[in-house]
Amino acid sequence: MNLNGYRVLKPEDLVAAHGLRAFALDVLNGLSETPKRLPSRWIYDEEGSRLFSQICELDEYYPTRTEAEILRSHTSEILERAGKRELDIVDLGAGDGRKTNIVLEAASKQVEDIHYVPIDISEASMASLVMNTRARFSDLQVAGIVAEYFDGLHWLSNSNDRRKLVLFLGSNLGNFNRVQARVFLRQLWEALNDGDQVLIGFDMKKNIELLLAAYNDKQGVTAAFNKNLLKRINRELGGDFDLAAYRHFATYDVFSGAMESYIVSLEQQTVVIRELQSTFEFDEWEPIHTEYSYKYRPSDIDALARDTGFGIVDQYCDAKSWFTNSLWQVEKPTV
Ligand code: AVI
Repeated sequence: MNLNGYRVLKPEDLVAAHGLRAFALDVLNGLSETPKRLPSRWIYDEEGSRLFSQICELDEYYPTRTEAEILRSHTSEILERAGKRELDIVDLGAGDGRKTNIVLEAASKQVEDIHYVPIDISEASMASLVMNTRARFSDLQVAGIVAEYFDGLHWLSNSNDRRKLVLFLGSNLGNFNRVQARVFLRQLWEALNDGDQVLIGFDMKKNIELLLAAYNDKQGVTAAFNKNLLKRINRELGGDFDLAAYRHFATYDVFSGAMESYIVSLEQQTVVIRELQSTFEFDEWEPIHTEYSYKYRPSDIDALARDTGFGIVDQYCDAKSWFTNSLWQVEKPTV
């Protein structure tokens, strides 16, 4: 734990065999493949996290305010089920924590002894989240962890026996494909004890026009967020991407039920990435896939809980059924 109140878990930051960091290796692999791809988790450096906070304020990006509305209406009830005495609130992918504040506000009134453990990949977000949370909730114990989700789960499985409520909000699960989501939730199940609870935010399938607008906002914030991947490659790996020669493109795949984000090359071009000692050729209109945002139906949520060992305690949705917060409980067989 450092003086700012969080610790950094970076077990795979150095890839010894190549002497390359995990980011460099993902870029090298992803741009060498056909079709090209870059994992969206690398968008979230300081600027990417700031842009994501800005997306959450956009009129078109309905998930944040819709989930906030659900949490404002139902958090007390959710916490009632978790018990009154002691609770560890573990916040996976906490980001700027704006929705968590709704939960912490209620928890600080309802629960006697709360430990708040935000886990996020962005150190910049974590530093301000820990500072702001401590300032706002002085009686709360806050200990953040900067880590990827799976490393966060590793920490969770080695932690204490206190009752846990894990928050996985904001439809972050939607950035995993259907298989990855199952693997992740099963690992979460393994890391928790019988009776612990998980509150997951699901963005529901809906009018496709609303989805398209949410990922193609008029101000171009989502475009800047997506293209931040190229900016980051330029800055951290010595790339020479000309950002004006690429465009953001987001579309909905009706078969998979996912919004898909791409960066498309507007011309034939060659990119040099100095740290990788490599060049990459782009054809005119060639895409780089950057992100999946899977959307759910109620029956998908039921199947996901059943397949990963959780029981559904209750589900909460907004008046238009655009978003669902589903409260699950770990069910472990008694031996
Ligand atoms: C963080 N995640 C759930 C967001 C989403 O909706 O998939 C990231 C995002 N991408 C474009 N807009 C927002």
